This record gives sequence, structure tokens and C-alpha cells, in this order.
Amino acid sequence: MMNEPHFLRLGVNVDHVATLRNARGGALPDPVRAALLAIEAGADGITAHLREDRRHIRDDDMARLKAGISKPLNFEMAATEQMLDIALKIKPHAACLVPERRTERTTEGGLDVLGGQHHLRPFVAELSRAGIRVALFIEPSLEAIDAAAAIGAPAIELHTGAWCNALEQGDGDRAGEEFARLAAGASHAKQRGIECHAGHGLDFATAREIAKLPDVVELNIGHYLVGEAVFTGLSAAIAKMRAAMDEGRRAIGAAN
Ligand code: PXP
Repeated sequence: MMNEPHFLRLGVNVDHVATLRNARGGALPDPVRAALLAIEAGADGITAHLREDRRHIRDDDMARLKAGISKPLNFEMAATEQMLDIALKIKPHAACLVPERRTERTTEGGLDVLGGQHHLRPFVAELSRAGIRVALFIEPSLEAIDAAAAIGAPAIELHTGAWCNALEQGDGDRAGEEFARLAAGASHAKQRGIECHAGHGLDFATAREIAKLPDVVELNIGHYLVGEAVFTGLSAAIAKMRAAMDEGRRAIGAAN
């Protein structure tokens, strides 16, 4: 018999509330207000990415999020000395190390954990020493998961972008292959004793599907929720996301 799947946490990423704010250069809409509302609506944590170019979240947003919210803050960051200093000052609950290229529109791929072990290891160690739970944002490959384990990361976040893109492009075969990689990655992480998260490009349908993987314990979702909020309001969008995730989780029980 299978173990009960873990409760699936929803981390709401508020970056694109800040994108909207920055389009006008003023103070509104405030990502901290969005974070508070997201928690009221069922988010289990708040995620924000302080990019090197500060294109959406800014330093003071991170500080205000940490001070203002009652649920865990997940600080997405590049593995740079500057970001490490800021993270150690802010002391979020968690940090997710992501690759960053200035010219990319969003985080396009996972970290190069195989080639970058030497660079990443001290960041994982320093953040962990400060009591911050570190995740590495990686492609769903078994080698990358083994490398994350070798670096000492307690958690990984599997990049779901390739799977979501394949679905969007109507490429069912590729989507099937990508989903199989995610499923294999999640169970491999569990075997290696690493907590498995997932995110990037998820919507209601894909969140429902990925919730069917029992070893995934957290999803981080932003852009789609902020887009839906334009039409239905943020609370309704989050409630619908929560329901989709719960439906996916329930399907595990029904299949056993
Ligand atoms: N997880 C990580 C590590 C990310 O970099 C992002 C995008 O910032 C997300 C999750 C959320 O992706 P999306 O905004 O497409 O939901």
C-alpha cells in the first residue's frame, strides 16, 4: 500500500503584482497587499524573486514581505554574493537558488548543478547555517537531482516550464515525455531524501495534474494567478487553484 501523499503546499509568487506597479513607477498595486490577500485566500506561503535588475520585486518589498506576512517567505535568488548578503539580512523561511540571465524574460531553465557544484555549494551551506531552507531550481533530470543531493540541498524545485510549453504548443508526445521526467524526478528526489517542489508556467489544469505526483510537496505559482486575478480577483483565482490542487491530490487516493 502507498503512503498517504503529503499535503500539497501552494506558494503564491507575487512578482508580477510588482511588475504592474513598476509599469507606472508608483507604489500601487502593492505586492505586500497581494501577499496578505493570498494568505487569506489559502496560500501556504509567499514567493518573490529579487532579480539582479530589480525589474519587479525590490529590496524594500522583500523586507516588507518578511515583516508583514504570517506565512513562510520563499526568497528566489541568483547565487551571487549580493543576493546572499540580502538573504542573510532578511532571513526568509526559505531560499530558492535560480539561474539568472539579464536578457531573459523569465527563468528559462534550471540551474547548471552539474557544472556549477563548486560555485553553488557554499551558498547552500551559508544559507542553511542561517536556518534558511534551501531549494535548487533544476530541470527534472536524475543527474541534476543527484548533483543537488551531493551539494547538500535539502530541497529541489523541478522546472515545469518545458512540460507546460509542450502542452501549450499542442505537442502531446513531448508533453507526455516531459511529464514522465517530472514524475521520475519527484520519486527520485524522495528516494534521495530531498523535498520536491515544482513550478513555472503552471495553470489550473497543469497544477491539477502535477498534484497527482505524491512526492511533490509544494507548488510555486505566480504569473497565471496574477493574470486570472484581472478577471476574477486574486482571492477567487487562488481559491480555484487550491481546489484544482486538492482535486489532483484526491485522485491519488482514488487510484489506489
Ligand atoms: N518557481 C521558480 C523558481 C520561478 O523562477 C518562477 C518564476 O519566477 C516560478 C516558480 C513561478 O512561475 P510562474 O510565474 O510562471 O507561475
